[in-house]
Amino acid sequence: MAYGSKHGATAGIAAEIGLTLRQDGFDAAVLPAGEVRDVSGYDAVILGGSLYAGHWHRDALRCAHRNADALTERPVWLFSSGPVDGSAEQEDLLPVPGAAREMERLHARGHVTFGGRVTSDTPGLLARLMVRRGTSGDYRNAEQIRDWTHQVAGELRRAA
Ligand SMILES: Cc1cc2nc3c(=O)[nH]c(=O)nc-3n(C[C@H](O)[C@H](O)[C@H](O)COP(=O)(O)O)c2cc1C
Repeated sequence: MAYGSKHGATAGIAAEIGLTLRQDGFDAAVLPAGEVRDVSGYDAVILGGSLYAGHWHRDALRCAHRNADALTERPVWLFSSGPVDGSAEQEDLLPVPGAAREMERLHARGHVTFGGRVTSDTPGLLARLMVRRGTSGDYRNAEQIRDWTHQVAGELRRAA
């Protein structure tokens, strides 16, 4: 389980996924994507990244590129975070083009977009503007994250 996160929201989603996998009986490691050099010691990989201006987090992309050979040989799921509104809870949002390309290249089993988080604590001018315009909040939905993870766990169990 690897994640690319700028301000911690995606790291929080990754932690929730890791916790859920462990509850489901899997031995799951949760690591920043930038630190993941070699995935060959893992049976399966979930790789997630936050979205900035329509781009999947660079650490997630680079992790996918670095490990492309090993990733294509094991079950992989991708996730993105995410819209600062309720849209990700209401519908299955398509991956951004960068993440969609990785889906194809890695033959990923699935992709999900979870809601994200921008708050008055998020650094940066654009984040401040979003807060001022009212497009802010924490739209990460723990139940949605856990439900998705249970599905992945089910697929992994069937594949084992
Ligand atoms: C400057 C800026 C640009 C963003 N662009 C997008 C975007 O294009 N698409 C999207 O869904 N979310 C976008 N977001 C929301 C972030 O993806 C969301 O807050 C995410 O959960 C942040 O995760 P992180 O804290 O792990 O980096 C943007 C947020 C900021 C502050």
